[in-house]
Amino acid sequence: MNFDETDGQKPLARMTYWQKTFGCQMNENDAERVAGMLEMAGALPVSTLEEADIAIFLTCCVREKADERLMGQVASLKNIPPAHGDKRIVCVGGCIGQRDGEKLQQQLKHVDVVFGTHNLGHLVRLIERRMQTGTAVAETIESNDGFSSELPLHRDKPWHAWVPIMTGCNNFCTYCIVPYVRGREASRPIEDIERELNGLAAQGVKELTLLGQNVNSYGRDLYGYPRFADVLNIAGTCGVERVRFVTSHPKDLLPETIEAMAAHPTIMPQLHLPLQSGSDRILSAMNRKYDTARYRSLIATLREKIPDISLSTDIIVGFPGETEKDFQATYDLVKEVSYGQVFTFIYSKRAGTPAAEMDDPATHEEIQDRFDRLVALVQEQAHAENAKELGATVPVLVEGTSKRDERFLAGKSPKNQTVHAPLPAGATIDEYLGRIVNVKVDETKTWYLRGQLVDA
Ligand code: 5AD
Ligand code: SF4
Repeated sequence: MNFDETDGQKPLARMTYWQKTFGCQMNENDAERVAGMLEMAGALPVSTLEEADIAIFLTCCVREKADERLMGQVASLKNIPPAHGDKRIVCVGGCIGQRDGEKLQQQLKHVDVVFGTHNLGHLVRLIERRMQTGTAVAETIESNDGFSSELPLHRDKPWHAWVPIMTGCNNFCTYCIVPYVRGREASRPIEDIERELNGLAAQGVKELTLLGQNVNSYGRDLYGYPRFADVLNIAGTCGVERVRFVTSHPKDLLPETIEAMAAHPTIMPQLHLPLQSGSDRILSAMNRKYDTARYRSLIATLREKIPDISLSTDIIVGFPGETEKDFQATYDLVKEVSYGQVFTFIYSKRAGTPAAEMDDPATHEEIQDRFDRLVALVQEQAHAENAKELGATVPVLVEGTSKRDERFLAGKSPKNQTVHAPLPAGATIDEYLGRIVNVKVDETKTWYLRGQLVDA
């Protein structure tokens, strides 16, 4: 992606910035790039909006709720004056920026800069233009001019790196807005990925997450080769201790990918494999291009090759035309697979997608009732999966303290479970951040494991 270099000038010197990120890991990665670019241009991060000269929102439009939340938050900014100066520069980027462009400034008149998903690298120039001309700016472009990995970076957690390997999506699931705001699939050259991975290992990064809307179709736009399994083989041997990846599509998950996962102990025994629905009729209406037989066979292969794998998934409840029978099929399949984590969503109509034109005879109450039943199952299941760890010693990558009790460190197990353990007397969390420590689990809950630090 083109980055507007500033020739050593610091156009945002003495300015402060604050940003808020909605949505998926792509936006979290983009937020680290925004921080990198703004700081290179001289701006300093602040922890509250009130102190900020520049406010940046990285937005998501995958469901209506995120849309509404953004609108509410940005609208309320009008009433929050900046602590210094007389005007705060409000910037809205990401998926809503890409979708709405300058229309957003008609709805929210105090938005100064709108940018999209493909021109993150121009943000500093757009802010500068706003400051020089005093008029609002909106710029979105239709396709990427490279990868955000070429932009400066300020990592949120120094021990963790997001590594985008592909962007965009060609699948056009009928409910999904993503292909319209993130564009077509484009894979990053494997040599660039390899160079970045080796650099991360040299910097002592402990965990990396390979990122893409559909990582399994990596390389399809590069003459079909190399493929995702090649990326996994490089990542698995680059020297970084923990490798994860999101997101996978069941139609594109190949046996060679499962083999690569099984071959490298550094690739964590965890997979997010969105099912969306357990009804073949609904999967077909969703244009998912797999059926439940294919999904079941993938799960069987995964469990055979990686016996301790923890699975997570996404489920949409209330897709147009979903009947109680369709829902029951989803419920039964979720029960059968037994996931460590399930992200449950009520279908949200997105203008411009094919599903938005489909009729739905189900009532709000019926859909809510299905959703509640699924959530109850998912919680039971998460608890049962966690209970399997009782008495085990698990390596935990420490990420901070427990939100409820600062005397407990909190981190992630290889299966991505949250683990808490008391900090030793007199120790501070700073000594532990980004380290992998062993915890013997003595208590298991629905959302986390608890245990004691042990030496081995
Ligand atoms: N309504 C509800 N959920 C959706 N998702 C995507 N689009 C919609 C929608 N219109 C969910 C899918 C996807 C996850 C990221 O968001 O389950 O996997
Ligand atoms: Fe959306 Fe389907 Fe693409 Fe995922 S695969 S981003 S759900 S269109």
